[in-house]
Amino acid sequence: MLAIGCDHGGLELKNHIIAHLKEQGIECKDFGTYDENSCDYPDIAENVCGAITSGECESGILVCGTGIGMSIAANKIKGIRAALCTDVYSAKMTKQHNNSNVICLGGRVTGRELAFMIVDTWISEKFQGGRHQNRIDKISKLEK
Ligand code: RB5
Repeated sequence: MLAIGCDHGGLELKNHIIAHLKEQGIECKDFGTYDENSCDYPDIAENVCGAITSGECESGILVCGTGIGMSIAANKIKGIRAALCTDVYSAKMTKQHNNSNVICLGGRVTGRELAFMIVDTWISEKFQGGRHQNRIDKISKLEK
């Protein structure tokens, strides 16, 4: 199960991503926001990342205006490796090398079709382990 969330700046793109994934049979648990009213992206990041660290969801998608605020907030949470992606290559590599468990997108930056390609790539790629696991272990040590 994928967790997904957005602020008002990412609402439109989030709704398109949910529909796109549903067409492929991938269900998302939607942590809001659900309307255009202004809200604070750290609150949404906290809820989506909490679902991941609790084990309720395997990974998550966060969308704000730029994707930057969401990625900064998500990466404060222990156990979260959030990657802001604006291109398909980065989406592929961040799963293979960083085993990112959250992908962040900018609803005011990345167009719908490119966002779909980024998300599809990130979901389908696999972590390569090996030397990359060693590096992730070092990232985990930085959390202490
Ligand atoms: C909201 O206006 C905007 O600041 C937010 O969506 C995001 O871009 C922050 O990084």
